[in-house]
Amino acid sequence: MAHGHLRHLVAGNWKMNGLRASTGMLDTVIEGHDAELAARVDLMVCPPATLIGAFAAKADGSTVAIGGQDCRAEPSGAFTGDIAAEMIADAGGSAVIVGHSERRTLHGESDADVRAKAEAAWRAGLLPIVCVGETREERDGGRALAVVARQIAGSLPDALPGDVVVAYEPVWAIGTGLTPTVADVAEMHGAIRRQLIERYGEAGGSIRLLYGGSVKPANAAELMAVAHVNGALVGGASLVADDFLAIARACGV
Ligand code: PGA
Repeated sequence: MAHGHLRHLVAGNWKMNGLRASTGMLDTVIEGHDAELAARVDLMVCPPATLIGAFAAKADGSTVAIGGQDCRAEPSGAFTGDIAAEMIADAGGSAVIVGHSERRTLHGESDADVRAKAEAAWRAGLLPIVCVGETREERDGGRALAVVARQIAGSLPDALPGDVVVAYEPVWAIGTGLTPTVADVAEMHGAIRRQLIERYGEAGGSIRLLYGGSVKPANAAELMAVAHVNGALVGGASLVADDFLAIARACGV
């Protein structure tokens, strides 16, 4: 089956961390993504917007992709402080995270907003990484599967104009050191896969599904081995080059 052969993608979400002096960390990641590792895992670094241009220049010609952490849906206009998908592409980025729970919570982004941002990404030629995930309260209330299904239904359009990556990140696992059980991740990723195949047919089988939330070198191997987990979206551990590379090495083994 096609989805059994999806290459893993490990994407680092630096969030609001990193200055120009952090470029050395990117050098270490590029060097560590050697031919052997690059043959089985894709790597991406999503620095803050101020560093996308410098990072993309540095990663040019390497096997490491650079992405943004958010974009606005419009291509340009009077939106002080925001950046367009076209600007990320112009700076050399090839992807953008949309709908991260910190954006959904701190900036009140709805599923419709996230869908508009994903559409902006495709318009600009970027790969959207669409994030979904339930809160602790929703999981405890037995609603995790329903909440995530609703987020996916609303955050993706009925027709996919391009490639997309979906990241399942339980809100309660982000930055907390807590992770769901392997069985819970398997249940969620299996359900997402079925939903995507039902909606998009064969194309739904080749959408990469990342797990995110407290992924560390110590838990990466067991999480990355779960069926329909095709990589990781990594926050805190992506800020330590050796940890980020160790997570990548734990994929596809
Ligand atoms: P974390 O963050 O790895 O620090 O838990 C993951 C994310 O927010 O993408």
